[in-house]
Amino acid sequence: MQEQIQTISKEFQSALTKIKDVKEMTALKQEFLGKKGSVSSLMSQLKDLEPETRKAIGGQLHALRQEIESELNSFRQQLERNQVNEKLQASWEDPSSRGSLFDQGVSEAGLHPMSQILNEVLEIFTSMGFEVLDGPHIEDDFHNFTALNIPDSHPARDLQDTFWFEDGKHLLRTHTSGLQIRGMKDRTPPVKFIGPGQVFRCERTDQWHDFSFFQLEGLLIDKGISVAHLLYFAKTLFEEIFRSEVEIRTRPSYFPFVEPGLEIDMRRDGGKWVEMLGSGMIHPRVLTHMGVDPDEYSGFAFGLGLDRLLLMRYGVEDIRHLRSGDLRFVKQFATYKAGGATC
Ligand code: DAH
Repeated sequence: MQEQIQTISKEFQSALTKIKDVKEMTALKQEFLGKKGSVSSLMSQLKDLEPETRKAIGGQLHALRQEIESELNSFRQQLERNQVNEKLQASWEDPSSRGSLFDQGVSEAGLHPMSQILNEVLEIFTSMGFEVLDGPHIEDDFHNFTALNIPDSHPARDLQDTFWFEDGKHLLRTHTSGLQIRGMKDRTPPVKFIGPGQVFRCERTDQWHDFSFFQLEGLLIDKGISVAHLLYFAKTLFEEIFRSEVEIRTRPSYFPFVEPGLEIDMRRDGGKWVEMLGSGMIHPRVLTHMGVDPDEYSGFAFGLGLDRLLLMRYGVEDIRHLRSGDLRFVKQFATYKAGGATC
């Protein structure tokens, strides 16, 4: 019987190389493992053997059965993989083969105004030596709240209306401040980085508020950093963006992850004061979460609303235009015209 087992195994292996689809695979399975299949018919002879041999041969038959099942499974998985690959292959198209947008009849194109303003802000900060970080839109409770000194049951959690996932642990990030924690995981002071990105709030929309908007988080940690450094960076940023002298002022504010917390306002040419960013000196407890010794280092952090900046810069009257997808809006910011002329 041992020999028969080996023969069946060999026969199966050679048959396996010949099948091509699910139908043939099912037939093969039937041939070997079906009620009248070769493995089953050996199984039925087991009862005639001596108890000792029955045990040994039974074990071998069992192993053979498992081997056949697992090989058939791998075959089926491979078939499925091939099918997916074939589909991908069939639908794959090289976008560059269509030529440029202008070749396709588009007469003007440009970056969305948010990308334009973001590129400018990134340029300003990178020229001052800041690194640029990215982070996930789907955040966990720890990075969005707890590590930023906003524990469970802290009333500050209600300051930001949150889109929670059903697991109660994940959320659409309500601010970019979680990047402070993520960025400091593999960095040590002196350090300075910014992190731009989309954030989400579960709130009613109006002219000035949307359920999603862009923020830019900034952080600088070193020895002897004070509010004066923060004010210097804020003023430089606004003057670069508005390409004019600006005045700034601070107002005390509350954010759990900074102490003191400051709101920074700006005005041009003696005009109206406009609230520009939330900021402050990083709270010692948050520094500790980052693995930084608060007795040795200090730092500032700020969160800048890029949408506000954009609305002011271009005189856009409603924040909801930005994500409306309305071509009449975005076309006003087109920077490239067919024929190569830029406007
Ligand atoms: N995360 C705050 C918000 O979304 C903004 C902010 C305030 C960021 C103060 C900061 C900060 O880094 O220091 O309202």
